[in-house]
Amino acid sequence: MAPKKKKIEVLLGADHGGVALKDELLPFLTARHVIWKDLGTFGDAAVDYPDIAWQVARAVAGGEAAKGILICGSGIGMAITANRVPGVRAAVCNDLYSARLARAHNDANILALGGRIIGAGLAREIVALFLTTPFEKGRHLRRIRKMEGGCS
Ligand code: RB5
Repeated sequence: MAPKKKKIEVLLGADHGGVALKDELLPFLTARHVIWKDLGTFGDAAVDYPDIAWQVARAVAGGEAAKGILICGSGIGMAITANRVPGVRAAVCNDLYSARLARAHNDANILALGGRIIGAGLAREIVALFLTTPFEKGRHLRRIRKMEGGCS
């Protein structure tokens, strides 16, 4: 029997404003035994961040990967685009507090980072927190549900 394919835990994508930070995060993820896949971009040439954000967001919403990390200059364009895909909750987190709450309260499934805002050291801490903080459920689950279907 063929070996079972391991599920991708983290799908990454970046534009030219985020590619350097993305490339710095890959060895960190590998060292933590995170199963990741990189959808690019792979060089310094300018690319349009929505093209990357759509790919990652659709794959996360479709269950191909548990979580996504999108990196552009600020994280903002990636998050705005990704949040257009139903089922995606993308959060811009350029600090540790936001990363913790994005998971604990918002059950964010995509982390958006600003490659022109934070350095690799802080980004690694943010990623670690984002990947390990559980969703608190309870009242937050009710609020997450209201995001999808309006208010009761
Ligand atoms: C690209 O120059 C820049 O606009 C992009 O990386 C991002 O910051 C958009 O939100």
